[in-house]
Amino acid sequence: DTIYVLNGPNLNLLGLREPEIYGSDTLDDIAGMLEDRAHDLGLEVDVRQSNHEGHLVDWLHEAQAEGAKAVLLNAGAYTHTSIALLDAIRSIRTPVIEVHLSDPMTREEFRHVSYVGMAAVDEVKGLGAQSYVVALEKAAKL
Ligand code: DQA
Repeated sequence: DTIYVLNGPNLNLLGLREPEIYGSDTLDDIAGMLEDRAHDLGLEVDVRQSNHEGHLVDWLHEAQAEGAKAVLLNAGAYTHTSIALLDAIRSIRTPVIEVHLSDPMTREEFRHVSYVGMAAVDEVKGLGAQSYVVALEKAAKL
């Protein structure tokens, strides 16, 4: 089974970007951690990143079309703005788990709303890079 790991805007700069908030691991580092854990769990991961909202919508549709077991979605700032992502998650049967490195609820008020969270089956946040690994373990159990 394959788990799609979809990452939104600015996550290509992980490791450089506000490391005091997001940590020093790059997205490639996280992809490596996920590949190792997926191997142990008998799963495969397909890790992608885009700064473009529509790409994330297309990849959610693709996850369903390709029969992915689940999607881990860190939609970055689109989490807090994107009705299109909310609708896309509602448009597929593939379960989506919301992921964040930081805990948006402890940050600025504009991060307190999550459109992704309105449709996701679960969420993992505030654990840094480990958030992705914990989310993968949850996806394995779905
Ligand atoms: C984030 C939290 C979002 O509020 C922010 O816009 C991001 C990263 C996180 O992983 O902590 O880009 O999704």
